[in-house]
Amino acid sequence: MRMYDLIQKKKTGGELTAEEIAFMVEGFTAGRIPDYQMSAMMMAIYFQGMTRQETVELTLSMAKSGQMLDLGSISGIKADKHSTGGVGDKTSLALLPMVSACGLTIAKMSGRGLGHTGGTIDKLESFPGFRTDIAIDEFKRNADELGIALMGQTAELAPADKKLYALRDVTATVDQMSLIASSIMSKKLASGADLIVLDVKTGSGAFMKNLDDAKALAKEMVQIGEDAGRKMRAVISDMDQPLGRKIGNILEVQEAIDTLRGNGPKDFTELVMTLGSQMLILGGIVQTEEEARGRLNSVIRDGSALDRLADLISAQGGDSSYVYEPEKLPKAPVRYEVTAPESGIINRIVCDEAGNCCLMLGGGRVTKEDEIDLTVGLELTRKVGDRVTEGDVIAILYAADEETAQQAAQRYLKAVTIDKQEPEPRPLIWEII
Ligand code: URA
Repeated sequence: MRMYDLIQKKKTGGELTAEEIAFMVEGFTAGRIPDYQMSAMMMAIYFQGMTRQETVELTLSMAKSGQMLDLGSISGIKADKHSTGGVGDKTSLALLPMVSACGLTIAKMSGRGLGHTGGTIDKLESFPGFRTDIAIDEFKRNADELGIALMGQTAELAPADKKLYALRDVTATVDQMSLIASSIMSKKLASGADLIVLDVKTGSGAFMKNLDDAKALAKEMVQIGEDAGRKMRAVISDMDQPLGRKIGNILEVQEAIDTLRGNGPKDFTELVMTLGSQMLILGGIVQTEEEARGRLNSVIRDGSALDRLADLISAQGGDSSYVYEPEKLPKAPVRYEVTAPESGIINRIVCDEAGNCCLMLGGGRVTKEDEIDLTVGLELTRKVGDRVTEGDVIAILYAADEETAQQAAQRYLKAVTIDKQEPEPRPLIWEII
């Protein structure tokens, strides 16, 4: 078999066989197929697309390119969740302790933030001492004993995807539906969970800017997972403005803890309840959404969800006293108020621009090697639909110095539109697939 012939086949609209896809993925991972040939193949796929069967085969080949985690020794139903990424998306921090306290077992690998989106692993490192680079044996033992364990993605997990994603990133071939679906699902399948709930975002802060693309991606991923024998559900949720009120690592940890205490922002709490309900129903813990919400509310009320987060933090070397006193976490030295330049109604907050302000403050990474400042970020005191009078505080920036705060404030003001008209209402949950 020759890579040249496979590129030619795909370029002219042919369908690659399972053997051809396996040859390509194995060869590329092992370094036998050079980047330039794989780049040509990615561009051919970008223009010709992939059939469902090709997408499934690509996913399975990439999943099998490294370690396939076997969670069989861990008791209970192993649940995983994935978000396609957004701004202010601290969902895992609140959701996972809640569903664990309701009886599902969480053994999850998570990523770090890149670009305008944040990552769970960085947020967890806000707890002094918390280790995300634990060995697989410790990870499995914690999941079995406590019902929850979280670690950073290891280099052995779907290495073909890692290499291919880096290539797509520099050849303008990231935004192809089958390639995104197979990239995400290869890591999820290799992570070994029995059930997977996907939070597919749509809107200005999401990968999929429009609803039809988000639905198509969600359907494709659900089908791949079901074909591989996993229980799957996808929730299409809105990411046209930041989720909740806080953006930035420590700020988001504090907001997630507020939510675990029952005092979270309305939109964020609703998203957590929706995803949590789907997880509990899919895992057979409850039969109906009403029962699920009842269970989730009860683990908030009796404090067991918060205790579960504390168990996770202390089991992995962190100081769990911060879970009960999050106000003790370090603070940025500068607090800078952004005020409304005119009176009216907030019509729009360009979501990825709000994320970029956090990046500018030092709270995110431009390259994978960048160090991040966990203390900085934004608190949106007003959101879309809120009426404001000129001079009202619409956001508070937490910064390392005054000059950066001023620059980020200018950028934030450009991201916000104040109008006389009420904005078109957008649902938080668009669809469940
Ligand atoms: N996230 C991934 O893991 N892969 C993609 O291709 C896009 C987003």
